[in-house]
Amino acid sequence: MSSTNERAAVILAAGMGTRMKSALPKVLHRIAGKPILGHVMDAVAAAGVERIIVVTAPAGQSVRDYAAARGAHCVIQHSQLGTGHAAAAARPALADFAGRLVVAYGDMPLVASDTFAASFAAQAQTGMAIVAFNSTNPSYGRVIAEKDGRLARIVEYRDASADERRVTICNAGIMAAPAPQFFDWCSRLSNDNSQGEYYLTDVPLLARQDRVACAIVMAEETEMMGVNSRGELAAAEAEMQRRLRSAALANAVGLQAPDTVFLSHDTVLESDCTIGPYVVFGPGVTVKSGAEIKAFSHLEDCVVHEGAIIGPYARLRPGADIGRGAHIGNFVEVKATKVGDGAKANHLTYLGDASVGAGANIGAGTITCNYDGFFKYRTEIGAGAFIGSNSALVAPVTIADGAYIGAGSTISGSAVAKDALCFTRAPRKEIQGWAHDFRERKAKEKSLSKKEK
Ligand code: UD1
Ligand code: MG
Repeated sequence: MSSTNERAAVILAAGMGTRMKSALPKVLHRIAGKPILGHVMDAVAAAGVERIIVVTAPAGQSVRDYAAARGAHCVIQHSQLGTGHAAAAARPALADFAGRLVVAYGDMPLVASDTFAASFAAQAQTGMAIVAFNSTNPSYGRVIAEKDGRLARIVEYRDASADERRVTICNAGIMAAPAPQFFDWCSRLSNDNSQGEYYLTDVPLLARQDRVACAIVMAEETEMMGVNSRGELAAAEAEMQRRLRSAALANAVGLQAPDTVFLSHDTVLESDCTIGPYVVFGPGVTVKSGAEIKAFSHLEDCVVHEGAIIGPYARLRPGADIGRGAHIGNFVEVKATKVGDGAKANHLTYLGDASVGAGANIGAGTITCNYDGFFKYRTEIGAGAFIGSNSALVAPVTIADGAYIGAGSTISGSAVAKDALCFTRAPRKEIQGWAHDFRERKAKEKSLSKKEK
């Protein structure tokens, strides 16, 4: 048996999520780039939970794969007979567990870890705890409190009397209890209610019969938002973005138009970096202090070092590593490429599977031709090299330090030597008066053809 102080979480995710009308299970839809279930798992883990049990539907294999890959234990609720029945499905997985548990719903991505921590703290004082919030929304169960502020019972809105329906304290669905007793109460639940379901919300009544009182922890309604439809998914995303933007501003990030910037759950923006309007951060981005991301840039899984300037209209894809003071300008795409300190690629360029040395200058329209339809190859560009505009660098190819590539060249084969000039341009040919003669000839032809008509 484990110690009575250990913490576990039972996350209910066996619902069908039919209102999403999606092939992807509801809890795997993403908010700020992370599945909804991942947000719940991370929040309980941050509240000191060591063991996470995710309750899934028989068809929820992809949910089990996701949760198991992140260290959770998954169980199957074979038929959806209610939230109390779902929680009870975790019992075998916690048979050896003598600690405390919190039950949470897998579709509530906005619950803060502090709220889970507060429910454990209140449970330690009282015996049990639930989380409640103020709302007049009829879809929530009503929390009926005793005069001393402890819980009398929770009544589902559809089962409630007119008086009970006027109560605005609502049940969030989060419940903390000692695990062995909790499962005992679950096994005593009945389904004698309007839905014919085993309600988790009846557990506190059974606890009261065993003289275990239940505290009520109050939280904000926005935190308790559940995702059931595309509209609610978008609303939860908006709330998460609001939080991420406020956190960035509080960390002294220069967000010029915060409402237009889209962040991921793990975006690292160091203080004193500047982010212009309409910038999108996919997962895995770090922007260091003093760097600037100009408007309409799109970044994912990349690092921008101190003082670098990106955009406007730049795209940094996975593996882009932009050195200190480097410039990546408009319509430049960078993938799996390390760009050295102070290097510049300011216009209309693709750098993929490459390295660009410090201080190199990549001219407008330069393309690393990294793919032959089967394999990818590398392009190495040395420090201080100069790549003339509209050059195609056919990988694998190396341009040594300080070399110049003439504009309009297609470079393939052996390495271009240090400090060399290399170009593949066709020689220039100029015919004096040709254009004048051509125009005269064509004008004559045209007037003759008109006369014939
Ligand atoms: C539940 C609460 C209600 C509360 C509301 C908050 C009960 C009886 N009612 O109602 O008091 O105000 O949440 O949002 O608990 N699930 C399963 N297996 C099942 C049934 C549900 O895993 O057999 C899961 C669902 O996937 C979902 C969660 O439990 O994540 C909640 O179920 P749902 O049917 O949405 O409960 P509500 O009717 O909203
Ligand atoms: Mg619900």
